[in-house]
Amino acid sequence: MKIGVDYYPEQWDSTLWEKDAGLMARTGVKVVRIAEFAWSKLEPRDGEFVFGWLDELMRIFARYGIDVVMGIPTNCPPLWLYRIHPEIVMRGADEKPIQTGIRGHRCINSDVFLSYAKRITERIVRHYSSSNQIIAWQIDNELEAYHCTCEVCRKKFREWLLDKHDTLENINSVFGNSVWSGEYSDISEIQPPTAYPKTWQNPSLCMEYQRFSSECTAKYVKELAMIIKREIPKAKVTVNAWLGGSKPDIYKFFDEVDFVSFDNYPPINIPADKDELYSHTFFLDMMRGVKGKKFWIMEQLSGPTGSWEPMSQTPRPGQIMGYSLQAIAHGADTVMHFRWRTAVTGAEMFWHGLIDHSNVPGRRFNEFTELCKSISKLGVIDTTEIVSDIAILYSPENEWAFKIQPQTEGFDYIQQLRFFHKAFSHYGANVDVVSPESDLSSYKVVIAPAMFVYKKQAAENIYRYAINGGTLILTNRSGVKDQNNNCMMQPLPSVYKELVGAEVSEYDPIGNNNQTIVDFAGNRFSCSQWCDILSLTTAKAYAEYDDGFYRCCPAVTMNRYCSGVIYYVGTVCEMDFYKSFAGNVMLQTGIPRLNDLPDGVEVTTRTNGLDDFIFFFNNSDEGAEIRLPKAMYSVIDSVGKDRISLKPFGFDIVRK
Ligand code: GLA
Ligand code: ZN
Repeated sequence: MKIGVDYYPEQWDSTLWEKDAGLMARTGVKVVRIAEFAWSKLEPRDGEFVFGWLDELMRIFARYGIDVVMGIPTNCPPLWLYRIHPEIVMRGADEKPIQTGIRGHRCINSDVFLSYAKRITERIVRHYSSSNQIIAWQIDNELEAYHCTCEVCRKKFREWLLDKHDTLENINSVFGNSVWSGEYSDISEIQPPTAYPKTWQNPSLCMEYQRFSSECTAKYVKELAMIIKREIPKAKVTVNAWLGGSKPDIYKFFDEVDFVSFDNYPPINIPADKDELYSHTFFLDMMRGVKGKKFWIMEQLSGPTGSWEPMSQTPRPGQIMGYSLQAIAHGADTVMHFRWRTAVTGAEMFWHGLIDHSNVPGRRFNEFTELCKSISKLGVIDTTEIVSDIAILYSPENEWAFKIQPQTEGFDYIQQLRFFHKAFSHYGANVDVVSPESDLSSYKVVIAPAMFVYKKQAAENIYRYAINGGTLILTNRSGVKDQNNNCMMQPLPSVYKELVGAEVSEYDPIGNNNQTIVDFAGNRFSCSQWCDILSLTTAKAYAEYDDGFYRCCPAVTMNRYCSGVIYYVGTVCEMDFYKSFAGNVMLQTGIPRLNDLPDGVEVTTRTNGLDDFIFFFNNSDEGAEIRLPKAMYSVIDSVGKDRISLKPFGFDIVRK
């Protein structure tokens, strides 16, 4: 378990380096990430490499016993490179070059750019190949599935399409190009679907373009990772994922690297409505699920955010420490804080770090120091893992398809997953977020929300899970699209209807309007966004609609298929429904429930096979008390206790 910081030596006078390293060491910082944007300092002119300054910095960190994550600075090519090779710049939806001098403006598909990117990577890696100080390498920064419209990308996209579909006729057929005279008669007519208005573009084309862009990013990561591995076979390589921009397929993105890392900026503002989706743990569980392994936080919230947008509130007392421990509870084993000190120059001077512009350590820094102290007591959990009975399936393709064609007002794919995540974790259960193609055999409950786009391997995997006796939850908007992102000519949920034992006879995309459902026990819940009106074949109704022309029609169903139990939630409900439903499913499947957890208190269990360590985190701005069934030993306070008192964003870890 390590705490680290992101550090930008190139942005500070070098006389600060030693002082900073000294304070880091005294505070308990074990690792720094450096250099991910420092290309122009390492290669100020074409082919002229300068490592002296970085060597000196590395010596300083070595003296203070601080390890290094070395960044490969390909996110920001130096401006001389754009001057010599203007063709390497990314082009926007208007086909014009993106303005340089900001960042991330290189086209990763350009062979010219790639040859320079490989050269700088090779130079850095060779220069530090014998360093024991570098414990990991980060390629580029927050890579996206870029929608570049340059000539190279156009050409590569056309070739990619032809390679996949063989002929233009096939492309015309899978895209359904007879709509609106869209048939291609020459390959040059294929254009990336970025032009305005994007919403009128062909959804099949949009999907293929997203797949292509995502594959290009994964390929780019692979090429640079190979260079690092070739020079240093033992090197640990990563890329840092974020939640914004055009997301690549995270499973493929991380395929080529050794471990997952994530830039974690949990929300600072607490919503007034307690049922609003707020906790960030879903994304932490998602990162753990990518490889089913522990991961790193490469950037962690450290201060008010802002710069190009108005600043956020400052993190409330407890959030700096609490959010880091929350990440650890969910499987992070190293948490790097962004950033050591707030920049005084450049575009990001109001995205705050641990130390403010004044360079006087303050409240946030003191809390960070406390965090470092607590971490030093957590050696016992180093070897523990998170084992879950429950999995939620996350599919990048479904997320893309819903972005391409929003289904109804308010409907958001990730939110559909988070409703269930919140409901099950509300009872203190560990929840995994994994790929629909991963091994599901160890789970007691699998939730597969909105399986919109058909994928054979995923559908077969889900059937296999149910046939073998699993409890499966499916929802509305499943089985709607084929692999080409076209609609299936079948009653919904098409490929899943055998499992569900019911068909959608009609649907009502009610958006922000409300409906009501009544469950088998007479509980009433309001619902909105989407209503599937179901007709049963073998399933039984779990809940029915109570309003309007489909009053008394099933809204939620339960079916048996082979030895499996399959629920189908045909609508989108208020949080109380998901909690009640999850509670029932846990009861049916024998998953233990903690029934009296105060609002906002999150419980995660990490185990080493012998001992269970229970993490209690108060994800709210009000204090909370939890009574334990027996006295347990607190790893944080080193005492036995039978009740846990948590301050706002407070934390405790007990050994069961
Ligand atoms: C991202 C980037 C960082 C920095 C922060 C804050 O996470 O990776 O370089 O820009 O955002 O804005
Ligand atoms: Zn391009």
